[in-house]
Amino acid sequence: MLFENKTIVVTGSAKGIGKEIALQFGKEKANVVVSDLSKEDCIKTVKEILSFGGKAISVKCDVSDKIQVKALIGSAVKEFNSIDVLVNNAGIYPFASFQEMTEKQWDKVIDINLKGTFLCSREAAKQMIKQGKGGKIINISSVAGILGFCSLAHYCASKGGVNAFTRALALELAQFKINVNAVGPGPIKTPGIGNLDEKILKGIIDSVPWGRIGEPADIANAILFLASDKADFITGQVLEVDGGMTIK
Ligand SMILES: NC(=O)c1ccc[n+]([C@@H]2O[C@H](COP(=O)([O-])OP(=O)(O)OC[C@H]3O[C@@H](n4cnc5c(N)ncnc54)[C@H](O)[C@@H]3O)[C@@H](O)[C@H]2O)c1
Repeated sequence: MLFENKTIVVTGSAKGIGKEIALQFGKEKANVVVSDLSKEDCIKTVKEILSFGGKAISVKCDVSDKIQVKALIGSAVKEFNSIDVLVNNAGIYPFASFQEMTEKQWDKVIDINLKGTFLCSREAAKQMIKQGKGGKIINISSVAGILGFCSLAHYCASKGGVNAFTRALALELAQFKINVNAVGPGPIKTPGIGNLDEKILKGIIDSVPWGRIGEPADIANAILFLASDKADFITGQVLEVDGGMTIK
């Protein structure tokens, strides 16, 4: 029980990878703050955590809105008195060919994936510095932070930005013993990815040396390690959890 009585905020945790991260922390007896765009969806995740004896609250928050982000961190502290781990998971990956990409589409992806990571990290770091006992910030990036993908220029730019942000923030926060790292998932089976037709799925699997698509648990396992005190001397790193996709 490495996380008993530690408070963990996971953004975008009503579904997909974020939900699995929230559930795993719940099983470790952490205080989990489940946060997403829909309060109703958050409550479903909270109920699952409570059903196996974990502790969790739900907070509606759009990570691209600084007022809502402030309220999210405020609610976490009000309920559990501190914040120990922030997982910046909320993200979107809508396809748009570059030549047809509108400024609105570009801005939305950057606002959620990159600015959202900045806003949540800023609020959480403020609180962690005040507490004076360090902390962990973990950003969910993507293999798209280092590889190019067609029709995802905005997404690749946002995740490349997350990787660079991770390194810069790690430098600034090291003096406060706040570790800042990122995890770069390869293709993972989530609601966001949807039901892939067999041909597309085969193409994805062929691009992964390990020979399978990832599960949300593959990512959550890495997050729990980076959030634990076993990773205290690791900071500013991007851990690709991708079945070898980025080493080809
Ligand atoms: N699934 C993959 O193959 C994959 C691969 C690489 C990286 N990722 C990254 O992992 C993270 C989670 O992806 P997923 O596949 O679980 O997605 P998902 O769509 O299944 O779930 C994402 C959750 O984030 C929420 N969200 C969206 N916009 C938000 C906002 N503005 N504020 C707060 N919450 C918001 C959604 O409501 C949803 O519940 C994302 O950052 C994504 O870029 C996913």
